Amino acid sequence: MIDLLMERRSIRKFKNVELEADKLDNLVKALLLAPSASNQMPWEFVFVTDRGLLETLATARERGSAFLKDAALGIVLLGESDRRDTWIEDTTIAGILAQLTAHSMGLGSCWVHIRNRMHNDTKTAEQFVKELLEIPEKRSVECIIAVGYPDEQKEPRSEDDLEYGKVYRNKYGLKYR
Ligand SMILES: Cc1cc2nc3c(=O)[nH]c(=O)nc-3n(C[C@H](O)[C@H](O)[C@H](O)COP(=O)(O)O)c2cc1C
Repeated sequence: MIDLLMERRSIRKFKNVELEADKLDNLVKALLLAPSASNQMPWEFVFVTDRGLLETLATARERGSAFLKDAALGIVLLGESDRRDTWIEDTTIAGILAQLTAHSMGLGSCWVHIRNRMHNDTKTAEQFVKELLEIPEKRSVECIIAVGYPDEQKEPRSEDDLEYGKVYRNKYGLKYR
């Protein structure tokens, strides 16, 4: 697991290759196996594989979403924000599990943030995504995870990247190492 965590990096360039059905199924499982507060699972997910929709989703934000146009898949993470106040924690934990599972299958992924971001001067990125995918108004859109076969290589993290100075032992300020 530590090796996987060291290796996983955000991938924003993807090969023009579709994902196999079993890989899609595993990503669905990873999301649905995530822990959630009181096991309430206040989430829904939209798996977008349609090229036209991915190209339009890539314009959800002026910056930070363009690479969705080449992804094989965009997983839209929705929260039942009217039902559970932990919907952000619950959906984002599911999201990172999907990213780690993607990496474990040789896929690359990157988070595209949507909540509290703008599409343009007047429309939120959330409203843009909701209208495009016909998502009910009461749902909240957290992010979209772009997934595909990587077309870029990134160095794994090393020990030197780890900021041990942010970790304390017993009392704040007492350095862990
Ligand atoms: C909450 C969150 C929001 C992010 N939003 C975006 C985004 O909108 N666009 C993007 O290109 N990357 C986004 N990222 C990816 C981060 O930029 C990336 O994880 C960070 O730079 C560390 O790089 P690494 O994932 O390769 O370790 C986001 C990551 C997180 C956790």
